[in-house]
Amino acid sequence: MRGTTEASARPDSPLLVDRFGRVATDLRVSLTDRCNLRCTYCMPAEGLDWLPKPELLTDDELARLIGVAVTRLGVTDIRFTGGEPLLRPGLEGVIAATAALAPRPRMSMTTNGISLAKRARALVDAGLDRVNISLDTLDPARFHTLTRRDRLDDVFAGMAAARDAGLMPVKVNTVLMRGVNEDEAVPLLRFCLDHGYQLRFIEQMPLDPQHAWNRDDMVTAEEILAALRGAFDLVPEPGDRGGAPAERWLVDGGPATVGVIASVTRPFCAACDRTRLTADGQVRNCLFSRTETDLRALLRDGASDEEIAVRWRGNSWAKAAGHGINDDGFHQPDRPMSAIGG
Ligand code: 5AD
Ligand code: SF4
Repeated sequence: MRGTTEASARPDSPLLVDRFGRVATDLRVSLTDRCNLRCTYCMPAEGLDWLPKPELLTDDELARLIGVAVTRLGVTDIRFTGGEPLLRPGLEGVIAATAALAPRPRMSMTTNGISLAKRARALVDAGLDRVNISLDTLDPARFHTLTRRDRLDDVFAGMAAARDAGLMPVKVNTVLMRGVNEDEAVPLLRFCLDHGYQLRFIEQMPLDPQHAWNRDDMVTAEEILAALRGAFDLVPEPGDRGGAPAERWLVDGGPATVGVIASVTRPFCAACDRTRLTADGQVRNCLFSRTETDLRALLRDGASDEEIAVRWRGNSWAKAAGHGINDDGFHQPDRPMSAIGG
């Protein structure tokens, strides 16, 4: 039944299936659209118009929707994102509520690492399994230019604390930009190898609020690999990558690896297993969706868990085949990355 959005064509499955045979089992939950950095590719210096508090899901509403996803829709993995998820009051409580679900989902968090040094232990105690920490440069002056804040040491401390608290593997996300930090591929990998972190480079996607993304400024997977091969021996990691977006290479014979997420030049949409919930309770079936399903309204109107599940399944069924970044007439979504969740 490819190519039809007819709800009647949907098989009678409780899972988040779509018309292309994919099943979403990985839920990304954005806990806030706010951030304490101002990465130039993500936010203007003055920040964005934050979502008004009454529109944000409460901790109880969040826990309820995550519960629906896990117990009725087959979601097995939860990733907490932002903005910066550590800015959400009650984060540990949301994690603990998620950890109490049966079956217990795997839980990870994408964070900029600031204040993680203070929080890592409590996050582990609440039930968090892993973290991905964003780091685009090792140079303090460049960090300041890139994020408009002088917090590089806090990020380093957060990474070390995450490792020491057992939030393993600590994954590091890097976006390389031409003329900004493209010369740091090799030093960043050395740093991560030395510290026992798993580095992944992410091709920059058109998700900036300024709508300034330019294909020619994007440092491609091919360029990143060429730079790394100048200093390291890279062999594709054997095995099936499943729904994982990163292609991974064994570095100098392994066991350390480096990943490249080539969202633009080698899209992995055909293997996508994600569904997303924004901090204001909207479900999106793709980072690049142009439509959303309003679960917050449903919830606040007194809908039952099963009614919410039905609406979520409908959102998945309508998922497009791909993000279309490389198609003529591609339209960037209205929400920027920080309000969707990475
Ligand atoms: N393209 C790719 N990655 C991005 N991130 C933020 N904006 C973009 C973009 N346009 C990354 C951040 C962080 C994660 C949340 O997503 O660097 O690692
Ligand atoms: Fe904050 Fe992440 Fe955006 Fe940087 S990329 S401003 S750390 S949300």
